Amino acid sequence: MSRNVLLLPGDGIGPEIVAEAEKILHAINEKFDLKLTFDTGLVGGAALDEADNPLPDDTLDMARKADAILLGAVGGPKWDALPMAKRPEKGLLGLRSNLELFANLRPAILYPQLASASSLKPEVVSGLDIMIVRELTGGIYFGQPRGVRQLESGERQGYNTYAYTESEIRRIGRVAFEAAQQRGKKLCSVDKANVLEVTVLWREIMNELKSEYPDVELSHMYVDNAAMQLVRAPKQFDVIVTGNMFGDILSDEAAMLTGSIGMLPSASLNSEKQGMYEPCHGSAPDIAGKGIANPLATIISAAMMLRYSLDEEKAAAAIEAAVNKVLDQGLRTADIMSEGGTRVSTREMGDAVLAAL
Ligand code: NAD
Ligand code: IPM
Ligand code: MN
Repeated sequence: MSRNVLLLPGDGIGPEIVAEAEKILHAINEKFDLKLTFDTGLVGGAALDEADNPLPDDTLDMARKADAILLGAVGGPKWDALPMAKRPEKGLLGLRSNLELFANLRPAILYPQLASASSLKPEVVSGLDIMIVRELTGGIYFGQPRGVRQLESGERQGYNTYAYTESEIRRIGRVAFEAAQQRGKKLCSVDKANVLEVTVLWREIMNELKSEYPDVELSHMYVDNAAMQLVRAPKQFDVIVTGNMFGDILSDEAAMLTGSIGMLPSASLNSEKQGMYEPCHGSAPDIAGKGIANPLATIISAAMMLRYSLDEEKAAAAIEAAVNKVLDQGLRTADIMSEGGTRVSTREMGDAVLAAL
């Protein structure tokens, strides 16, 4: 049975990091006889330049048909002045909403070799392994109404709507409870239920779901405290479940605990386990084209793709083992450079993972 993988390199460092993950995927395809076929499509600024649309119809068609998607990153200063509907980010958001990729898994794991690259003291962070489950197709990112309106006073007002339906909360809650069941059996739901009604409902539904998962310990935390606790004592967390915007912010914060935003992978899944896989970071315009970006978040995202959407656990584990090996060898891109390491380029890092496979 052949399966199709759609590669969407996107903008900035996107093409550089996806090229490295692609090399690894081709090698793993041969080694494990996975019968994967690959297509490449345009998204984001690259698609705007080519087709005047951040999510062209043929990209969306290919995405719908694909068994899994690997995306680099979208966006950059070139397109920042465009109206909201024409921004590169709409390409990414359109893929998430059209494919109903509501469950975003962002595992923040500190590889022991990178303990000194973390901004926290080793004793606070060593052994860190948390899973952030972020709701991805609702909340303030998609709530209606939204826009900028003219008030009678003559002033303009910008507004967005933070809304969740019960069913949206329930389905992401289930994903999080199930993830906790398979891990440390601790789930922390992060909200702002002291101020926002939408998250009062969120908390209520999480409490309701708890009865279906008696083996999971559920706690609740306000998002401001959660941001603080993540840098005070991050190992208190096992699985965190939260809404779209809080999850966006907390996952970048958690990334830094692991040494670099260049280490954090992600999976975005729908209810059919079709998935889009991408590093959590963006297009890094400040280093694009320099060949120094860390490709590991993308390579580890490819491993997640093999595990979650293609059911190829052995192949996924082989990639993760290869990443561990290059870190053992002391190879470091600039963002994870520490004393005693050998500094390598994006391509050299990809080549090293390939050699370690
Ligand atoms: P960013 O994540 O692109 O960059 C933040 C900082 O982290 C920069 O200093 C960058 O050089 C560094 N960095 C990021 N990835 C790295 C890597 N792999 N290796 C080494 N260093 C890395 O965030 P930003 O600067 O806020 O956003 C830049 C653009 O990317 C914006 O247009 C934004 O909308 C977009 N963005 C896209 C995605 C995505 O496609 N999933 C995610 C976040 C931001
Ligand atoms: C991410 C990004 C996106 C988000 C942007 C680019 C739309 O920051 O994937 O974390 O906010 O979800
Ligand atoms: Mn983000």
